[in-house]
Amino acid sequence: MKDNPIIVGLDIGTTKITTVIGELAEGGGVDIIGEGTVHSEGMKRGSVVNLERATHAIRQSIAAAERVSGVQVDSVYVTVAGNHAKAITSHGLAAIRRNQEINVSDVDRAIENARAVPLDPNLEIIHTLPQEYVVDGQEGIKSPVGMHGVRLEVDVHIVAGTAGPLLNLRRCVQEAGVQVEGFVLHALASGLATLEAAEQSQTVIVVDMGGGTTDIGVFKRGNLAHSASIPIGGEHVTADLAQILKIPMEEAENVKRKYGAAIPELADQDLTLEITTASGSTHAISAFELSRIIKPRLSEIFSLIRDEIDHTLGPVELVAQGVVLTGGAALLRGTSDLARDRFRLPVRLGRPRGIGGLTDIVHGPTHAASVGLVLYGIGEDGKVPHIVFQDEPLSAPQVDLPAPLPATPPAPAPATSAPKKEGVSLVDRLRNAFKDWM
Ligand SMILES: Nc1ncnc2c1ncn2[C@@H]1O[C@H](COP(=O)(O)OP(=O)(O)OP(=O)(O)O)[C@@H](O)[C@H]1O
Ligand SMILES: [Mg+2]
Repeated sequence: MKDNPIIVGLDIGTTKITTVIGELAEGGGVDIIGEGTVHSEGMKRGSVVNLERATHAIRQSIAAAERVSGVQVDSVYVTVAGNHAKAITSHGLAAIRRNQEINVSDVDRAIENARAVPLDPNLEIIHTLPQEYVVDGQEGIKSPVGMHGVRLEVDVHIVAGTAGPLLNLRRCVQEAGVQVEGFVLHALASGLATLEAAEQSQTVIVVDMGGGTTDIGVFKRGNLAHSASIPIGGEHVTADLAQILKIPMEEAENVKRKYGAAIPELADQDLTLEITTASGSTHAISAFELSRIIKPRLSEIFSLIRDEIDHTLGPVELVAQGVVLTGGAALLRGTSDLARDRFRLPVRLGRPRGIGGLTDIVHGPTHAASVGLVLYGIGEDGKVPHIVFQDEPLSAPQVDLPAPLPATPPAPAPATSAPKKEGVSLVDRLRNAFKDWM
């Protein structure tokens, strides 16, 4: 058994369930000492649809991570998909006595004041996230404690999850033999794991492109300031291929990963594939044509993200300085290029950072959320951890410069109907979010 504190993240996704075990290192960093990933079962877009099967898969994932680490897991932080959360931004005010410094209880009072908003009884607060403070009209204050003033104000983003889905998740996790230490919004976890130090002074849009959902978090100066979820992910791309090429989903998945590209111009122009349909007939399709099937769905996802941000925060190009794409679906070749074209912003692929240990196992974008849960558990009040590791010097974000894309010929529309946008706007800010759950 290890002696240092252990923090465990359990990311229950649409396509996979991942457990990541982190151990707090002597110097304050975190080492990943265990990982276990299994196929997701009993889940649909972040909701439990079959308690027994989900419990079984969760148990397997935790057991696999326990075997690697030699540690027994007692409690876990669990991701909550954005489509099961709602958020409101609330303003809090605290009067400060004349000639007195602002103290911690004044800050708590301002936050409590902001929290005192009527919430649907069907919602449970997951995060209470204060943005920067305003003291006597002076904006942009990160920590007002010790300052003088008579009026302390704060905007607080309150993220709440729908009680039913949360109860089901909690029940599955408990039946798998562990306790829920806290629920964490998927987009928040992904951002905590992937944002670089230099991005913490900017506004950056983190887009986690999963199998069934695309979760969006807008981070302002390291704080989650807005979030949303789009119920479309990489599985929809696979389903488009399966339907149009008339092949099983598994084969469509293989073809997509091996030969697919988000932009036809990036596809291997000399490659032609022989496809055997479910009915046994064969036909040829070029990698270029394959990508023409893939592109519209990804374009749709990026358009919906644009709409969401435009509606709630303003034009994307003016709101943010960059976009970080993460999640498994971001691995498809050319996805960053397409996003760069759609957002007209620098775009980079986000991988988990700020960790030591089994980094070779958890280095991919599919592990952003699970690693983010562990970083959240370190207890930095939900802010992007300011940790510098020996193997990861503080560096400028690896953002690619936007480059105009070549004109693309019109692509055939996928035969599957585009799922309706049902993205829920959430907003966030953080402060001792996990205390709600302890
Ligand atoms: N190398 C790859 N190329 C293209 N797509 C990939 C690749 N690897 C994974 N994917 C896609 O990523 C998706 C799964 O991503 P991820 O593991 O982040 O999802 P998840 O966390 O299970 O789902 P969600 O977050 O939506 O609940 C699948 O649709 C899969 O096709
Ligand atoms: Mg995911």
